[in-house]
Amino acid sequence: MSRRIVVIGSQWGDEGKGKIADMLTGRARHVVRFQGGHNAGHTLVIDGKTTVLRLIPSGILHAGTTSHIGNGVVVSPAALAEERAELEASGVPVSERLRISSACALILPSHVALDGARESGIRQRTLGTTGRGIGPAYEDKVARRGLRIADLFNAQRLGERLESLLDYHNFVLTQYHHLEPVDFEQTRDQLLEHASDIEPLTGDVTDALRHACLADESILFEGAQGALLDVDHGTYPYVTSSNTVAGGASTGTGVGPTYIDSVIGVVKAYTTRVGGGPFPTELDDEFGRYLAENGDEFGAVTGRPRRCGWFDAAALRRSAFNNSLSGLCITKLDVLDGLDTIRVCVGYRVDGHSLDFAPAGADLLARCQPVYEDLPGWHHNTSGVREFEQLPRNAQRYLNRISELVDTPIDIVSTGADRTDAIVLRDPFG
Ligand code: IMP
Repeated sequence: MSRRIVVIGSQWGDEGKGKIADMLTGRARHVVRFQGGHNAGHTLVIDGKTTVLRLIPSGILHAGTTSHIGNGVVVSPAALAEERAELEASGVPVSERLRISSACALILPSHVALDGARESGIRQRTLGTTGRGIGPAYEDKVARRGLRIADLFNAQRLGERLESLLDYHNFVLTQYHHLEPVDFEQTRDQLLEHASDIEPLTGDVTDALRHACLADESILFEGAQGALLDVDHGTYPYVTSSNTVAGGASTGTGVGPTYIDSVIGVVKAYTTRVGGGPFPTELDDEFGRYLAENGDEFGAVTGRPRRCGWFDAAALRRSAFNNSLSGLCITKLDVLDGLDTIRVCVGYRVDGHSLDFAPAGADLLARCQPVYEDLPGWHHNTSGVREFEQLPRNAQRYLNRISELVDTPIDIVSTGADRTDAIVLRDPFG
């Protein structure tokens, strides 16, 4: 039976979606990204070789799978060209496997300049963005003044629309931020240079996916970032600018919600966060450093160190509901190997009240104090284990407790970086 499955990160990103998407991609005829842009960093390790994908879907490494960039993604033509060149240099036939929606909003150099100007923090609160221009590009999309992929293929129209957009961007850059303007002709010429490479890959991704549905072909919707970074449901304003929750798979591809069969929430066995914003279980002690070092917690895109903390079931409950999670995929269990005791946050105390469901937005969450349950750790190496029964008893207990606290069954436990290091308890493709 073919299936249409959404894979999303259920925390603050970096849960290891790339590996899971790649594992499942072998079973999907189509893989589609539906939101975000090259702020994502999906690390895949196949036969010991590491590939980091930022914009292109994880399906690109599989022959026989078509990778799509859906309308909800913001595309930097320069970043796309760079990633494509890297993949082609290692022998991946990108043009045979990749399709891009003509409706994707473009990220321009002026968006990057605006993102950087805001993040310099002189005139505005800093959020710790990836600096890729994601927020400003989505703003222009919603404001209906942005450029789209389709605009690249008509030089005159591109020039006119770009000129008017840059007038506005340059006004903000020079008058508000007191920075240099971005050059119109240089930007236009760069875009036109990329246009001829992009045009043959461009089309109506929604129609391609409609045909896939009609032909009963399997589709994997590949999320980026994490549900707690969702612009509506996350820790606003410390969020990214797109809908990272599973519902974004519909709006960001044009495939209606009832075509989707299930949603897998990828979740780390602990928690990490990059950038600013509240993080109730954050550890600023030897345990935090243990997780950071053992888990190699540095951003795949920016190289920034990630903040680390214990698993937070209250945050996950919210995520499980927001995404209607059908199953969990728990990653990086092996990072906890060697700890005597492992703490799990089961709820919060705030203003004299107990909460078992993380509040939305940053303000109330920032005041929440975690309530912990302590579980016994294990001193065996779990990396590379492929059978649940071969895990140490306490590791099994830990996983079962997480599943119970979040009221969601476990589909997969990832036990290492390689595609094959995993325990599959329930096959999402049935
Ligand atoms: P932006 O997406 O670059 O605007 O960044 C907004 C927030 O989302 C910042 O806190 C980033 O660190 C975070 N963020 C964006 N992309 C990722 C990701 O792929 N993994 C983890 N955090 C991310």
